[in-house]
Amino acid sequence: MFSEYFNKKFGQNRLVLMKDELQKQQFEILDLSESNPTKCGFDYSALDIDNIFRSGNNLLYQPEPKGLFAVREKIAEYYNRRKNRFPSQEINPENIFLTSGTSESYSHIFKILCNPGDEILIPKPGYPLFEMLAGINYLKYKYYGLKYDGNWRIDFDSLENVITDKVKAIIIVNPNNPTGNYLTLQELQKLSLICSQKGIPVICDEVFYDYNLITLNGKADFVNTEFDFPVFILNGLSKISATPQFKLGWILVNSPDKYLKKINDSLEIVCDTYLSVNSIIQNSFEKVMNFRNEIQSQIKLRTVNNYNYLYTKYPQVYNIEGGWNAIPELTSQVDEEYFTENLLRTHKIFVHPGYFYNFDNSPRIVLSLLLPADIFNEAIINMISILRGYEKRQIH
Ligand SMILES: Cc1ncc(COP(=O)(O)O)c(C=O)c1O
Repeated sequence: MFSEYFNKKFGQNRLVLMKDELQKQQFEILDLSESNPTKCGFDYSALDIDNIFRSGNNLLYQPEPKGLFAVREKIAEYYNRRKNRFPSQEINPENIFLTSGTSESYSHIFKILCNPGDEILIPKPGYPLFEMLAGINYLKYKYYGLKYDGNWRIDFDSLENVITDKVKAIIIVNPNNPTGNYLTLQELQKLSLICSQKGIPVICDEVFYDYNLITLNGKADFVNTEFDFPVFILNGLSKISATPQFKLGWILVNSPDKYLKKINDSLEIVCDTYLSVNSIIQNSFEKVMNFRNEIQSQIKLRTVNNYNYLYTKYPQVYNIEGGWNAIPELTSQVDEEYFTENLLRTHKIFVHPGYFYNFDNSPRIVLSLLLPADIFNEAIINMISILRGYEKRQIH
């Protein structure tokens, strides 16, 4: 009765099941993987939540497939500010499409680029939703690797090895989740050469772009570069203004003219079929978007302080350039799966093991840097002491 994809078993992960079970038993779990900013004690008062959605226009339904023009104009403005452009090079709001979130943006793009069974390339390590997004759109995926040499960089041999005629898009996450690396100009050049030779579009996920911990000079800018293949740039309120509950994302198309009309016409058909973005958030978009500077400074301050604290207590942590995560490396005698399960069962601390993000063998954990400093610092001290005890037991 069901599609092949849903004939397979979707088993819940053991660690996540254990967390759910402990919570059902009323244990308080300290979730060091918390990546939902609305649960991390940030000050949202400047958003003025009681008034933000007041608008006489909320009783008017304007089914605009791409989303309201005024909203798309504001988004174009955001990109225009990224770099001084000549007026003739300004971002055209007609190349912007609103969606109900970045996940939906991916699905819309897959629909216009791919046939069932086609392949997309995704980064490894990377954000675990891509496999699911590919699957529910009846696509296959292959991984290209990232290598660490003081920073995480694309392993171009691994990328070229997986390119076939079936590959219809390469996903770049800039900066990547969870490794926090931005693409360098050199990486952009190599990638462009490959995509241009093979005619493969790029989907560039920039949801963490504004959360840089380094200056971005010398980094790839997918918005302000001209390519001879299509590039789809994704972002949304979920991260940019730390308001995932408002469910508004967007796609910016940066494409050579020869593909632009076809892309825009096709995306418009997909968006028109769903009309998934509600009017209320569109009417309040400007206010939520303007809130981003306030919330981004709070988040950046906290992530930097938490990262620095972690680094002083546990220097075996990878360099990050942006994003909301840190990745401590565990010593090789520690079994990542056993450690994270034991940490949860015995000490009620939940962290993500590296395998959630497809890291290669050596043991690691992934921590969110969003928790308030007092909670984060205490948890780090506890976790390190548990880890040291665990290492000792492994040695004897
Ligand atoms: C890299 C990346 N892309 C997309 C998303 C999903 O964003 P949205 O809430 O807009 O669907 C996330 C969420 O964590 C993410 O980490």
